[in-house]
Amino acid sequence: MAEAEAQQDPGQQVEAANKAFEREFERFAPFRATGTTNLPLKQAEELARDLSEVRSRHTGKKSAIATCKKLIGRVPPTERAAFGQLVQQTEAKIAQALDEVEQVLSSYIETRRVENESIDVTMPGRRLRAGHLHPITLMRQRIEDIFVSLGYAVEDDREVETDFYNFDALNIAEGHPARDPQDTFYTTDGFALRSQTSTVQIHAMQRRGAPVRMIAPGRVFRRDTPDPTHNPMFFQVEGLCVDRGITMAHLKGTLAEFVHRLFGPETKTRFRPSYFPFTEPSAEVDYSCFKCGGKGCRICKWCGWIELGGSGMVHPNVLRAAGVDSEEFTGFAFGLGIDRTCARIYELDDIRLLFENDVRFLEQFR
Ligand code: FA5
Repeated sequence: MAEAEAQQDPGQQVEAANKAFEREFERFAPFRATGTTNLPLKQAEELARDLSEVRSRHTGKKSAIATCKKLIGRVPPTERAAFGQLVQQTEAKIAQALDEVEQVLSSYIETRRVENESIDVTMPGRRLRAGHLHPITLMRQRIEDIFVSLGYAVEDDREVETDFYNFDALNIAEGHPARDPQDTFYTTDGFALRSQTSTVQIHAMQRRGAPVRMIAPGRVFRRDTPDPTHNPMFFQVEGLCVDRGITMAHLKGTLAEFVHRLFGPETKTRFRPSYFPFTEPSAEVDYSCFKCGGKGCRICKWCGWIELGGSGMVHPNVLRAAGVDSEEFTGFAFGLGIDRTCARIYELDDIRLLFENDVRFLEQFR
């Protein structure tokens, strides 16, 4: 092909260069003729890019017209002036065609860009939808505020545990029937998702020694079938106070004060004997219904009392397992269900609503 070109008459080569340009320029020619376009902006931008490629192909150093220029010196002197003129005219014609279309496209693109970027200050603003905390987080923060003001530290601890922290150190030996109601989920390598925040009692005493006064809110897991009062994942807050001379009276006074601050000063507490392997004696704690004051209503299921959680005096075996001298120190502990308390306060019939993540439901609680 290059050889064929070299053998071609120089005039024909100029003609061929011009033809090749015209073929490619054909799609741009209408803009030159009308001097306008109303293409979508993206398409106009693409066309402008294509045009600059056509320019470099037909006017660049390696273009056919550039090759023709090199021939000027080689044509016989008698034909040189005429040939030179032909090359120059063809080159100028190509450049002019390209310039004109480029001008049309670039001024159109600029106008459209300015139009697109301009701001209509009279348009109504977009409403910013502010997020808010989940009701369980709000509940947890209220509980934390009360205990912090009573001098308790807030501990955060792991959710994946060994059997030692979830059971053994809490005086629940292997085969103990108390493991059953707290059956949990296990990882393939034998770790357990904690079934109660009581695990933090051990970690806190190991970390801080005694005396210690802390609460530990957090997620816990149990193989419970979901129903209006049960979820396989729920939140508890653990409380632990270990010092010299701590008695059941301190436990009762602390929880009574907590209940007053959370539900109002007229709220009563009652302790029912219970059993937990890690406390002795143990008690379930109830508070009088904040809605009906104890007369009986839908919220308290017509009994006047609502269960808050479990509590008791820390078992000496637990103190020992955590490295605390059980002769010198005594303590109390409690574990409250945050979800159920939250459901009561917001008068929800079903704690599962809290985890469905329906924004229409959640945005009622701010
Ligand atoms: C315990 O988990 C003991 N660790 C509490 C404790 C701590 C006792 C320290 C003594 C000393 P219990 O299994 O009762 O106790 O659970 C405590 C609270 O968690 C219950 O009162 C209830 O509010 C909540 N709870 C228990 N199971 C579920 C569940 N499946 N879904 C939602 N809340 C639950």
